[in-house]
Amino acid sequence: MADKLAKLDLGGKSLEYNVLEGSTGPDVIDIRKLYAQTGAFTFDPGFTSTASCESALTYIDGDEGVLLHRGYPIGQLAENSSFMEVSYLLLNGELPSKDDLDDFTYTITRHTMLHEQLMTFYRGFRRDAHPMAIMCGVVGALSAFYHDSTDISDPEHRKISSHRLIAKMPTIAAMAYKYSVGQPFVYPDNNLSYTGNFLRMTFGVPAEEYVVNPIVEKAMDQIFIVHADHEQNASTSTVRLAGSSGANPFACIAAGIACLWGPAHGGANEAALNMLREIGTPDRIPHYIERAKDKNDPFRLMGFGHRVYKNYDPRATVIQGMVRDVLGSLGINDPVFEVALQLEEMALNDPYFIEKKLFPNVDFYSGVILSAIGFPTTMFTALFALARTVGWVAQWNEMISDPGQKIGRPRQLYTGPTQRDYIPLDRR
Ligand code: ACO
Repeated sequence: MADKLAKLDLGGKSLEYNVLEGSTGPDVIDIRKLYAQTGAFTFDPGFTSTASCESALTYIDGDEGVLLHRGYPIGQLAENSSFMEVSYLLLNGELPSKDDLDDFTYTITRHTMLHEQLMTFYRGFRRDAHPMAIMCGVVGALSAFYHDSTDISDPEHRKISSHRLIAKMPTIAAMAYKYSVGQPFVYPDNNLSYTGNFLRMTFGVPAEEYVVNPIVEKAMDQIFIVHADHEQNASTSTVRLAGSSGANPFACIAAGIACLWGPAHGGANEAALNMLREIGTPDRIPHYIERAKDKNDPFRLMGFGHRVYKNYDPRATVIQGMVRDVLGSLGINDPVFEVALQLEEMALNDPYFIEKKLFPNVDFYSGVILSAIGFPTTMFTALFALARTVGWVAQWNEMISDPGQKIGRPRQLYTGPTQRDYIPLDRR
């Protein structure tokens, strides 16, 4: 019996519901028996007050601007760790020993190649296809190539498919880029780090040796770390919902990629950079701030605001901190960075943004760096998908391993016509 109870009076009945406490964060009212006891549902479009699952992976305190993976703050992980180490942490719950990390990295490295037949999928796309369209298609198609790891009731199958997804995602994303620019696909080089290998597969060409820039490699790795997981966001919830029916992991991750594509979610970094370029010079910023505040104008400051963070997004802090190093190391003087800095300062001092607690989110600065590294804006969301894959598979594994897991099936408030009789066509 829980210590706290929530009381509900409905239709003359008084009912009590347990209030569950997590290890930290808000209490949760357990209403699982509500419908059976009262015949009523709760109404919560957008899930703003609803916990859809129990999870021990990632914790966010949006008011304080805190993001923890398995308890470790994102800033500490980004500064001291690597994407491979964070991936291990998310999948296994603890930081690895040196041997564990070496073994994990070795395993991931040995799964980086794609089945050669998958090349034909790429050739079926138009050259100007959005990389996210290619990612949805190719990742979904993996289920047709790796039958030997799709028995989701077998933990070993789940582990192998998780490793395959994490390992193959850089190859899939890099090939989507190569296809769009008409260059030959570059096969993985397993002597390089996860991130170095991705950079080489994206920017290397067979005619030349590719030398990985260590500052860019570190920045890219940090970008992967800050995107690795983010609690029950829209795409992760999509993966869980798809997986709750028993669908295979490749299909579930393809569903997550589709959800991530939208401009209110993963597509926002592309939209943020496009907006900064459109603003162009600092003198035009006030005009755009006024537009963002105007209720009659659909324009919003992209890269600003977040469903959960009502404070500075801690991931934005990490990314903002690396912009100067990356631009400096590449010798790039991009005026868009100055526009971003000034726009941030102006918005943070404007009563509209203060009152609504709108702060820069992870997407506000990431586009500036990714563009400096050489990625076209259309690749930004694909990079996000690459990094988020580990979070998706960790959450999917957590869900499948939960003995209380059920198929996800929300209910509705029906407002359509009540039952009526069919009218033949000649009488309508
Ligand atoms: N610019 C101007 N006004 C904004 C912005 C913005 N970027 N974001 C929110 N607001 C305003 C809304 O108009 C609304 O005002 P109102 O209360 O007067 O109607 C209020 O702030 C609350 O906004 P909602 O849209 O209700 O908040 P919600 O939690 O549903 O939306 C979202 C969050 C979608 C991220 C929103 O802030 C937004 O559209 N931001 C721009 C897109 C973006 O950067 N997305 C990336 C999110 S991070 C990620 O996915 C990795």
